[in-house]
Amino acid sequence: MPELSERLKAAASLVRQGSSAADIGTDHAYLPVYLIKNHICKSVIACDLRSGPLYNALEAVRAEGLESLISLRLSDGLRELKENEAEDIIICGMGGTLIARILSQANWICNEKYNFIFQPQSHADDLRRFLFSSGFSVTEEITLTDDGRDYLIFSSVFTGDRSLEDDEVSIQFGSLLYRNDEVSARIVSRTLKYLEVRAEAEMNYGNPEKSDKLRETIRKAEAIINGSKNQ
Ligand SMILES: C[S@@+](CC[C@H](N)C(=O)[O-])C[C@H]1O[C@@H](n2cnc3c(N)ncnc32)[C@H](O)[C@@H]1O
Repeated sequence: MPELSERLKAAASLVRQGSSAADIGTDHAYLPVYLIKNHICKSVIACDLRSGPLYNALEAVRAEGLESLISLRLSDGLRELKENEAEDIIICGMGGTLIARILSQANWICNEKYNFIFQPQSHADDLRRFLFSSGFSVTEEITLTDDGRDYLIFSSVFTGDRSLEDDEVSIQFGSLLYRNDEVSARIVSRTLKYLEVRAEAEMNYGNPEKSDKLRETIRKAEAIINGSKNQ
């Protein structure tokens, strides 16, 4: 099996020691194999929507002789995963909009016993919006560059706290505005540019209120950035 990417190693570092896990959208099952071989998880359910990736997963699991510890399952998101089957649930390498849709299809996830690990490939704001309005909090955030690309990986648990559901700055940036590393700064800068483009587009489409709201978020984010630079 090839060496696990730094991106997926970071996701693995947020999985609780000794847990049973589910990897949704597992593709080659590289992450489940790593979690078992490194004694992080006692068992993993590797799920994928399509049989092709699941076949790749089967080959990887067989090659390592881990059939008794990694089970494979054809599943659209969490649909075929039952409550209590896994304690740590990992969804990496999909867009934030799709991850939010997958989560919205299983109401049993609203329980503090589960630890979620996400690596949204895009649209992290859609994922945070869903999480904050559903009572989930972000517990740890990791940013890193892997193979020339910047990634955000974070863990989340249900707490019932919905205080950030209307906080557009937290929805757009998470805690990245308060971090000092270069990767976070680049992700923040790209998010600011994206918000600028959206604000401009909303104005051009005759939606000045939406445009103003986006500009307000940009202003608040820039004030936080300038405040932390002056400290
Ligand atoms: C880009 S790969 C990511 C693989 C791995 N998780 C990673 O981060 O490297 C996305 C995988 O998610 C699967 N997928 C897409 N939509 C899905 C869904 N609704 N439910 C389960 N798996 C899905 C795809 O078949 C594919 O294998």
